[in-house]
Amino acid sequence: EKGTYPHYMLKEIEEQPFVIRKIIQQYQDEDGNVTIDPSIVSEFNQADRLYIVAAGTSYHAGLVGKQYFEKLAQIPTEVHLASEFVYNIPLLSKKPLFIFISQSGETADSRAALVEVKKLGYKSVTITNVPDSTLSREADYTLLLHAGPEIAVASTKAYTAQIAVLAIVADVLRKSKGIEKDIDLAHELAIVANAMEEICDSKDEFETIASDYLSFARNAFFIGRTLDYAVCLEGALKLKEISYIQAEGFAGGELKHGPIALIEDGTPVIALATQENVNLNIRGNVKEVVARDAYSCIISMEGLEMSGDRFILPAVHELLTPLISVVPLQYISYYAALHRGCDVDKPRNLAKSVTVE
Ligand code: M6R
Repeated sequence: EKGTYPHYMLKEIEEQPFVIRKIIQQYQDEDGNVTIDPSIVSEFNQADRLYIVAAGTSYHAGLVGKQYFEKLAQIPTEVHLASEFVYNIPLLSKKPLFIFISQSGETADSRAALVEVKKLGYKSVTITNVPDSTLSREADYTLLLHAGPEIAVASTKAYTAQIAVLAIVADVLRKSKGIEKDIDLAHELAIVANAMEEICDSKDEFETIASDYLSFARNAFFIGRTLDYAVCLEGALKLKEISYIQAEGFAGGELKHGPIALIEDGTPVIALATQENVNLNIRGNVKEVVARDAYSCIISMEGLEMSGDRFILPAVHELLTPLISVVPLQYISYYAALHRGCDVDKPRNLAKSVTVE
């Protein structure tokens, strides 16, 4: 039930701090360290390469997951769209392990890919919100999201839950391989939950950004680099699916290779700046679009902020920024859709779970 909330989407955005805390609880051992089923750890440790397969928002979570597996656990990882994978299976490594990410566990494209993987005799893990879903039953192992039912068609809390679970798996693998890194993930995720709460307290600011930038927009761009780029793809999907504004996420450095031709007087460009090593680069990209009269808005993070930034996120571990930088983008989409009179929870032409290929 959505209780006092006008829409499920708003309720689900604001549940995210609780979901992160629930995930910490569910994946913690007696000593407070993150943990997962040892048989899953051993399956991962036998793999020479991971293949993440998913659709839509779950695919976007997979793009972040790849960074975790490679940076924390040093396992090469590929991310594939389920609908492409089925008809164009890539050259696989000697010992692949497949990870299916799906909120519903019922997405037909992902299921079709799982069927192919099983035919080839490979092992699979499903990361899903729905126990006993098709993908959960048919994969060898399941990791649950513990996000509670997600009703709005636009996925919000499942995305952050997926990223949190992927971070936990990668960190557990890191420790199992004896890779030293100064990170206490349970503690860092607790900081994320608090940061999310602070961001939710600023929702009026995101409503203002939505009305300033998007009330009459025909199109909108989201730009970022590295992890911020992955979040920009998700921000653009969110905006297009519920507000029907044509929205695209671009890697900042790619603008000059084509997309900058689309910038006109007043084109809204929302930039994320949460990554220290590319902070100056993304700000350079913002200057390039502003020089073409774009209407820009920078969302940065404490410690990396500069004057003129529209919103400064509380600081979290730099690998975990997608968990918080997506929240303003979710709110901005929500309010943009609301101001434009769209049916936020049930956008046209879309279903919550896509059970046809
Ligand atoms: O249930 P799944 O995670 O497998 O669903 C995948 C996509 O259909 C889903 O994420 C879709 O893109 C959402 N409407 C995005 O908000």
